[in-house]
Amino acid sequence: TSADSIQLRVSRYRPDTDAGPHWQEYEVPLRKEWTVLDGLNHVKNEVDTTLSFRWSCRMGICGSCGMNIEGEPKLTCATFLSDYAPGPVTIEPLANFPVIRDLVVDLSDFMAKLPRVKPWIIGAEDHSQVEPDVEFLQTPGQLDAYRQFSMCINCMLCYAACPVYGLDPEFIGPAAIALAERYDLDSRDHGTSQRLDVLGAHDGVWACTFVGECTKVCPKHVDPASAIQRYKLKTALHTVKAFLLPRGAR
Ligand code: FES
Repeated sequence: TSADSIQLRVSRYRPDTDAGPHWQEYEVPLRKEWTVLDGLNHVKNEVDTTLSFRWSCRMGICGSCGMNIEGEPKLTCATFLSDYAPGPVTIEPLANFPVIRDLVVDLSDFMAKLPRVKPWIIGAEDHSQVEPDVEFLQTPGQLDAYRQFSMCINCMLCYAACPVYGLDPEFIGPAAIALAERYDLDSRDHGTSQRLDVLGAHDGVWACTFVGECTKVCPKHVDPASAIQRYKLKTALHTVKAFLLPRGAR
């Protein structure tokens, strides 16, 4: 390593041929404006075309470039190489997910869980809220109520950081809960009760032990931990009401 270069220590793995993950080192230029993703793309373009990783926007928007850098989940397009000088920089796939190849992980568990919280606007039962020709205006205050939770880019950093998900993959997880909150707080939505049924189950919010790592690593400041704490109260009230009140009065 020289002052104008830095070593990337990258986890390589091909489940079809390799016995297990192993390290491979690459030397890349250390430029002030280069992100970790720029370093990986340098390797891919100039040194070793077999290295596999995901990326698309390079602007912290698409959520596809998440990896564990020095053990911490990060968007590699928003993480500067110079922060790790003089190196080496350890780059691994996001923790808690099966590895498909090198730095690419399998997200199908999240894809299966997400629809359970119905992350879309659910209209009123009498359909008065779902007429296609009706305009649903919101005040700036109504928009602000859920704006923070609409910033999620599904990057999965929160799942990689969550020790509960690591131990219990049944846990529905931080992003799915934050996205439930995004729709529950939307003035146009009437689906809260359906989501509370899902989130109040054993693999819902009660699995969380409030470690708070999800909120710390979120690149968009979505704060899933706060949503989870509010849902604990809401699901508890929902369960009590279900016992005490007839369906129409809940
Ligand atoms: Fe899109 Fe990093 S490449 S978020």
